[in-house]
Amino acid sequence: MLVIRSPENWSGWIVVSYEAVETDVLIVGAGGAGLRAAIEASRYNVDVTIAGKEMLGKAHTVMAEGGYNAALGNADPRDNYESHFRDTIEGGAWLNDQDLAEILVKEAPDRIFDLEEFGAVFDRTPDGKLAQRMFGKQSYPRTCYVSDYTGHEMVSALVDEVRRRGIKFMQEIFISKLLVNNGTMAGAVAIDVKSGDILVFRTKAAILATGGAGRMYEVTTNPASATGDGRILAIDAGAELTDMEMFQFHPTAMVWPPSCKGILVTEGVRGEGGMLFNVKGERFMEKYHKLLDLAPRDVISRSIATEVLEGRGTTHGGVFLKVSHIPAEIIKDRLKTMHRQFSLAGVDISKEPMEVAPAAHYYMGGVRTDVRCETKVKGLYAAGEEQGGVHGANRLGGNSIAATQVFGKIAGERAASFAKGRTKEQVNKDEIELELKRIDKISRGEKYEFLPSQIRVELNRVTWENAGIFRTGDGLAKGLNDVERIDSKMLPKMGISDAGTRQYNKELAEALETINLVRVAEILLRASILRKESRGAHHRLDTPKTDNENWLTHIVWHIEDKVLKHRFEPVALTKLKPPS
Ligand code: FUM
Repeated sequence: MLVIRSPENWSGWIVVSYEAVETDVLIVGAGGAGLRAAIEASRYNVDVTIAGKEMLGKAHTVMAEGGYNAALGNADPRDNYESHFRDTIEGGAWLNDQDLAEILVKEAPDRIFDLEEFGAVFDRTPDGKLAQRMFGKQSYPRTCYVSDYTGHEMVSALVDEVRRRGIKFMQEIFISKLLVNNGTMAGAVAIDVKSGDILVFRTKAAILATGGAGRMYEVTTNPASATGDGRILAIDAGAELTDMEMFQFHPTAMVWPPSCKGILVTEGVRGEGGMLFNVKGERFMEKYHKLLDLAPRDVISRSIATEVLEGRGTTHGGVFLKVSHIPAEIIKDRLKTMHRQFSLAGVDISKEPMEVAPAAHYYMGGVRTDVRCETKVKGLYAAGEEQGGVHGANRLGGNSIAATQVFGKIAGERAASFAKGRTKEQVNKDEIELELKRIDKISRGEKYEFLPSQIRVELNRVTWENAGIFRTGDGLAKGLNDVERIDSKMLPKMGISDAGTRQYNKELAEALETINLVRVAEILLRASILRKESRGAHHRLDTPKTDNENWLTHIVWHIEDKVLKHRFEPVALTKLKPPS
């Protein structure tokens, strides 16, 4: 399926002629949302292609541990979608798009039954119902789970279903640009990381489901693939981004040994009764929130950070999380991954405490869509962590993998309906050439001064220090200044170390990902500077109060004449209003 090759002497990519990869619905990303979207789209008798950056089955969703929120009422019959909705909106500090949040809570139960149909086996109660555990900021236990490897089970089932349906999937494909014609999806330019070939896709519709951008930060639970690609593809294509200041820090990740720093310690640990202590043996959450260890994530992360900053943390900068009061059989059954993960670090969690600290975990900000998952670009949809607005200023644990299924299905259905019966838009050869030039400049590796990895170290430091759990106006301004310096002084001198090798030269994709990360960080910092209050995960020490009078508003971003622009859009309080 060629496509475009550079001549042997590497004198630049040229479009001699190209044979495009033709499809009706292109799905960018092969995690929970992308796979679910593909399954749904395939029901409409259209040609569906999944293009994933990773090998099939390796996307970030496999690392989701604690569970899937669905108000089934199995553990407590008082639970229903209304209480799930209220928890989601209160937990999200009232910034959620309430229409999206309502769809999430209403449809999450049906989507978990779909997963069962695809073959996922969730843990059950003795009477055969789906078991549900408590999670943070929940009124009732509503998190369904598979021990503490829920995402792994989900992705296995979704991959099986994709295979059963014969859906085309292309692995290790890095989409670097979307092609748009007349405000409508037309195609994409991509690098096949395996061969080094450049591919051009032609498509009628596309779904962005590339996940998060945690790799912007020094310490993160996210895998190497979480580089914000979809947000940049979207905004460059003409779509909008929203709530980009809202990045969640999960309260509990490993801190020791250094090689394990950032590995997720599931909220399921606290859901099963785990308790947080400082080095003085105090159950410090008593000081901070009535829900103690199951307070909203933003509250617990700030509480842990405060304990550490005020000198009550461990020498490695963490606090203790204990489960030794829980019978060892329960730990080994419901927290299997945790038991194994810590035993590899020499800690038996049934006897000894875990040492934990917050880590960058989830981007609430993302591509702005309507309730049909449609963006401002006709035929372009977003789902999963890519989609902004669902979770407001702070996501509830367990709502993300539910959102992948709910909105993956909607995006698949809508994209397929859009594609059906349409003819494809033309792709613009000049636009392709421009993208090839951009890739070529990096891939030649001539006279570079910085490798992608060196730029990332600097970016990670800047965001961690200036746009972390606690923010200030001065710190954010300094962070933005640093990111602008990275953008103007380092990125133009970025190159790859082995320009002669094309097959599996992952550094080229890493370079493009680095550009995406820098651009996402810039928007995050600009948005955080604009929001002069504290709300959910965005906590500014210089404006510590939540200001519902002036700041119940989204900050929405787009690009106009190559310039990044923003506008304010009031939160539509269509269903619930905050107490006055
Ligand atoms: O803690 C966890 O298991 C993570 C779950 C989530 O982010 O939803």
